[in-house]
Amino acid sequence: MLVTKLLGLIILIADVLGDVHPVIRDRRQVDACSERPTYGERRRCAVKDGVKQLLQKRNEDWSWGERVEAEAIIALHLAKYKVFKKTKASLYISVKQMNIDLLSAVSKDNSLTSKEWGRGKLAYYVLGVKATCQDPRDFYGHDLIDKLKNHLIVSSSYLDSNKFDYSLILIALCKAGEPIDTHNLNDISTTPGYYTFGVDEASVVYMAYHCVGNPTYKKAEDAAFNFILQAKNENGTFGNEYSTALAVQAIFASGKRTLRRQTRTGIDYMVDSIGRNKDPFTSLLLSVLPAIARKSLLDIGSWQCTTPEQGTTTPSTPTFLVEITVFNNITAIDYDRTWSATLRQGQTLYDALVNLNNTDSTFSFKSETATWGQYITSINDMTASTDDRQYWQILGTDGSPLQYGASQTFPSQGDKYTFKFTIW
Ligand SMILES: *[C@@H]1O[C@H](CO)[C@@H](O)[C@H](O)[C@H]1NC(C)=O
Ligand SMILES: *[C@@H]1O[C@H](CO)[C@@H](O)[C@H](O)[C@H]1NC(C)=O
Ligand SMILES: *[C@@H]1O[C@H](CO)[C@@H](O)[C@H](O)[C@H]1NC(C)=O
Repeated sequence: MLVTKLLGLIILIADVLGDVHPVIRDRRQVDACSERPTYGERRRCAVKDGVKQLLQKRNEDWSWGERVEAEAIIALHLAKYKVFKKTKASLYISVKQMNIDLLSAVSKDNSLTSKEWGRGKLAYYVLGVKATCQDPRDFYGHDLIDKLKNHLIVSSSYLDSNKFDYSLILIALCKAGEPIDTHNLNDISTTPGYYTFGVDEASVVYMAYHCVGNPTYKKAEDAAFNFILQAKNENGTFGNEYSTALAVQAIFASGKRTLRRQTRTGIDYMVDSIGRNKDPFTSLLLSVLPAIARKSLLDIGSWQCTTPEQGTTTPSTPTFLVEITVFNNITAIDYDRTWSATLRQGQTLYDALVNLNNTDSTFSFKSETATWGQYITSINDMTASTDDRQYWQILGTDGSPLQYGASQTFPSQGDKYTFKFTIW
């Protein structure tokens, strides 16, 4: 009896000490920041305090603001929180806030091709989704990878003049485990060694090549990397804090330990820039924190995810029907037939054809992969032929030809599509 009581008392004391101890230790560490300002200490304290400042900058609803969420989550992930755990609810709630931001945007425009989302912004969210151990292929039923690939096509004229955003999209696809087309790898440095946006551009171009690791592009990769190293100023910076952050990220992404020294003064400069007395902007914290922590975008999701809690985040995805008509009155076979195809939210018209092909024996088709997506060559053995100047034209619900191909079209409930065998 006495023994149990004594044991209880010991457990109680241990509990109290367990609660108090981390507080004492924390305070000692913060004090050490000012007491012993060695380079390493300064760097570590800056990460710690920068993370704290970033968390304090959240709004009433625990968000940082529309379209900023992913970059903030990425900064926290790279600087401190390898894994976002349920046990840290005040942090985890901001992951939910990121999801809400993205879901809200998708609910307004399923393809996210607006200027705000279609020019690189979705890439950050795909990386943010990866960083938080969620699946970008099935984000509440939405295939974010299909959408991002689509942006390479529909935003191509913008991306051709902005290789920074272009490379960012490739990095996100690469980190999501997607193969990258060679024409995309050609595009991001048409003239290796020349970068419209200087170090900033060279850094993301380099990280994109380094992530993909295709030996054919080794020269272009090296050109970008050498450009970064040569852009270093005498005072150790690579431009302003934002450019310095990207250059330092690229150097750490290279994994070349001998180059670490090259980043020291740059890191010192960034550490200074986020001192509390400077009241740094959120955007500055987002840029410099990963670099000060000696991480890069390529480190995203490199840590093992704990097994997902089944069924807590992904509700079953609603499905809907679209009508697909195949029409041919230009050959001897007069053909006019309509099917209903099932589609999950976020899937493309091409997916509808695949679903139909897999579930209905009266429908079959063939397609080829072209640079702009899937090209339908044959439906129910009616094969398009260049010699006969025939192709499968796709008409939308309003009867007019679609602007993009089947793999870039995201149908809604009740849409009707006609595949019309046509002579050009
Ligand atoms: C470092 O040097 C560059 C080029 O000389 C200059 O533009 C920049 O302002 C300097 N930065 C700092 C922090 O001294
Ligand atoms: C094929 O059908 C279209 C649309 O119904 C029609 O305009 C066209 O005249 C027809 N062509 C032939 C050769 O019958
Ligand atoms: C259509 O289904 C058949 C099997 O029934 C399969 O062999 C073929 O690859 C499918 N075609 C496409 C384009 O998915």
